[in-house]
Amino acid sequence: MPAYIFKIGGSILFDGEILKTELIQKWINVINELVSSGNRVGIVIGGGRPARKYIKAASELGANKSYQDLLGIESARQNARLFIAALNQSYPTPPKNYEELIHALGTHDLVICGGFQPGQSTNAVAAIFSETIGAKYLFNITNIDKVYNKDPDNSKMR
Ligand code: UTP
Repeated sequence: MPAYIFKIGGSILFDGEILKTELIQKWINVINELVSSGNRVGIVIGGGRPARKYIKAASELGANKSYQDLLGIESARQNARLFIAALNQSYPTPPKNYEELIHALGTHDLVICGGFQPGQSTNAVAAIFSETIGAKYLFNITNIDKVYNKDPDNSKMR
C-alpha cells in the first residue's frame, strides 16, 4: 500500500494569533482524498506560534531546555488534535512516542502526530514516521525562506 508523510510546519497554520481554518480545510480535503484512494498517510504537525510563545516564557521563567521542549511538544500535539478533530478515520489521539506510533499503525491507515521527546523537532518525528511506514515521499511544508547553515533563531540554539 503506498504511503505518504506530510510534515506541516506549525508556522504556516497561524496568521498572528488566528488559526487559518480555510487553509487547514484544504489540507483536510487532500488527506481525505489520499486515504480514500487506498493510501497510508502520516501527518506530523509542528508547534508553530504557541510553541514559540510557551518556550520563550518558560525560558524567561528559568525552565531548562528539556522542559521548554515539553511545552513545544504539547503545542504540536494540540495542533495535531485540531486535524484529528476534522478527520474521523484518524487514530484518535496524537501518539506520544515511537512505540505508540507503531500501535496506532497496526489499526489505522491515518495517524497524526505532534512531538515525541525533548531534544529534537517535529522534523525528526516525520523522519522516524517515514522510515517506519516505508513512505515513498516525505513532504515538508514550511515557510522557511532559504537553506541556513545554522539555526537562524538564536533562542533555539543549544
Ligand atoms: P517544531 O519546531 O518542530 O515545530 O516543534 P514548528 O516550529 O511548527 O515547525 P516548523 O519550523 O514550522 O517546520 C516545536 C518545538 O517543540 C519541541 C522543540 O522545542 C521544538 O522547537 N519538540 C518538538 C521536541 O522537543 N520534540 C519533538 O519531538 C518535537
